[in-house]
Amino acid sequence: MRTLIRNAIAVLPSETRAANVLIEGSKILGIDPPAGAACDETIDATGLHLIPGVVDDHVHFRDPGLTHKEDLHSGSIACAAGGVTTFLEMPNTIPPTTTQEILNAKLDIAASKSVVNYGFYIAASTENLDELRKATRTPGIKIFIGSSTGNLLVDDQDSLEAIFAETTLPITAHCEDESTVRKNQARIAAAGYTGHSDHSRIRNHEAAMIATARAVDLARRHNHRFHVVHVSTAGEIDLFADHGGLLTAEACPHHLFFNVDDYERLGSKVQMNPAIKTKADNDALFAALLDGRIQVVATDHAPHTLEEKNQPYPKSPSGLPAVENSLPLMLDQVHRGNCSLEQVVSWMSDAPARVWDMIGKGRIQEGYDADLVLVDLNRTSTIRDENQRTKCGWSPWHGTTLTGWPVRTIVMGRTVFADGRFDVDHRGAEAVFDHSLGGYWAT
Ligand code: DOR
Ligand code: ZN
Repeated sequence: MRTLIRNAIAVLPSETRAANVLIEGSKILGIDPPAGAACDETIDATGLHLIPGVVDDHVHFRDPGLTHKEDLHSGSIACAAGGVTTFLEMPNTIPPTTTQEILNAKLDIAASKSVVNYGFYIAASTENLDELRKATRTPGIKIFIGSSTGNLLVDDQDSLEAIFAETTLPITAHCEDESTVRKNQARIAAAGYTGHSDHSRIRNHEAAMIATARAVDLARRHNHRFHVVHVSTAGEIDLFADHGGLLTAEACPHHLFFNVDDYERLGSKVQMNPAIKTKADNDALFAALLDGRIQVVATDHAPHTLEEKNQPYPKSPSGLPAVENSLPLMLDQVHRGNCSLEQVVSWMSDAPARVWDMIGKGRIQEGYDADLVLVDLNRTSTIRDENQRTKCGWSPWHGTTLTGWPVRTIVMGRTVFADGRFDVDHRGAEAVFDHSLGGYWAT
């Protein structure tokens, strides 16, 4: 099957220009094929921009174990609607992904349920060093250096030293210092909780700084590739900048666009780990994206039902859904003149694919996978809870009007979402990782 996308403005690796893109099967066969090249289907993309599909390397899809919140079908449908063609999913499912066997089982579930491409991290525990050493079919190792949703926690120095010393897969970690969080929590609980904003006083700047500094120190001493997820404070940025590709970092939309002033309006809907911080932190994170100290934008999509979220603090769980709105949120920044479309493509497609050594993803280039998104940079639409495809059925951005939306999502050469309709018979493919590539800057 050959598909020709005609007349799009394509964001190519080295330039953005009008181009025709020819797809054969699941691959990009060529850019600007000769006139008259044979094809079975033509998509007229006049007025639209063509970008590589978003690679969201940080989602929680709850399958198996907590599928009343989300599952690999509903989560992947939300991805397709949001222009996300590949997701990498975190291991705090039930059971946690601590063995190759459990990881393989998740890959099997995804093969039957996911409409977009997928990969799964393996979790570090205090007892599975051997599994981590041998693990395959995975982007990398996730360590919860501070506890979050679920009970994965590796906090003791000896275990952390061993993981950084004795494994070769890239590592990522949840960095909020457990003892600082517990100390703050005890103090605030003793005084009496006042509401969801207590969350940012418990999971404060200090907690993030201490844990990120600790993880970065481990990575440096062991010369081990490390990706700092969900950077939430200005202070953390200086910890990992400029280390030749050993260290890379991620910012999430909620840490870019929400701050403590939003608790009054949104309550537990903006309760996340790491907690949201201040307007000054929002601005510092955006500035770090613009100058390349942070390379990746990913969501940390972490759905909980409204019933769960509506409990008083601290019973309300931490996490918010975002996969179907992250690209529009960033395209709206393009519309406002705060960044370029090429930067958004770098942060959301190319960089995450390079960080995790994903073969054939994140670029519109001959031979790459045909994971593509057509976006209408002039479309204005308002996010509404009732239109969300995530199983949890709400968004913290309900009522927010954005300009710049995906209108067609193509996964491995097949359209899975176009103009509000889905191809639910399509299945995405397992993502392929080659960790011999040498790291983010090498490719
Ligand atoms: O707020 C969060 N929720 N942060 C995490 O690290 C995990 C996530 C979840 O799984 O609910
Ligand atoms: Zn997460």
